[in-house]
Amino acid sequence: LPYLIAALVFGYFLGSIPFGLLITRLAGLGDVRKIGSGNIGATNVLRTGRKGLAALTLLADALKGVFAVLIAGLYGPDQAIAAGLGAFLGHLFPVWLGFKGGKGVATYLGVLVALVWQGALAFALAWLSIAVITRYSSLAALVAAIVVPVVLYLLNHVQAAELFTLMSLIVFFKHRANIVRLLKGTETRIGAKG
Ligand code: G3P
Repeated sequence: LPYLIAALVFGYFLGSIPFGLLITRLAGLGDVRKIGSGNIGATNVLRTGRKGLAALTLLADALKGVFAVLIAGLYGPDQAIAAGLGAFLGHLFPVWLGFKGGKGVATYLGVLVALVWQGALAFALAWLSIAVITRYSSLAALVAAIVVPVVLYLLNHVQAAELFTLMSLIVFFKHRANIVRLLKGTETRIGAKG
């Protein structure tokens, strides 16, 4: 158990690095939390008009999950799971930002890439098809968050399926403002400025 807690804490601190905020600040764009949805994720960084910075945010936020899982995974599969959950929670609730972090989609994907790459493929297919059809980043993430646990159960990755069921529920909770906007028809589409 001490090793599991250590893995969770390690993942948390890695996950709590708010790359979207750091990258936009370093680029001299000010506080990304003051534009668009107010989120620190790649989708909102894209609303600054800087595609490269948005891609970099997506990559960095995903890599937090990848590295947490791979490094803790050297100590065993349970440690990998604990660190993945830690990284996700760190991104969502970073101590540095008064526990007000992002919505977790990129980090969720990173953890998935490192744990069950087939699940990440399912995520990518679901996300891309919904994003291309609707141009709603949030809706694409919500659909992917439903598809992933189902696929993991079907592939018999039961422990990962349980982890991602929990993380998907948290993703939905974090997207509650987006869900309201989607239902009202006022959600911002990818490519449009906030
Ligand atoms: O990954 C976050 C995305 O699903 C929604 O972001 O900025 O539109 O709330 P945003």
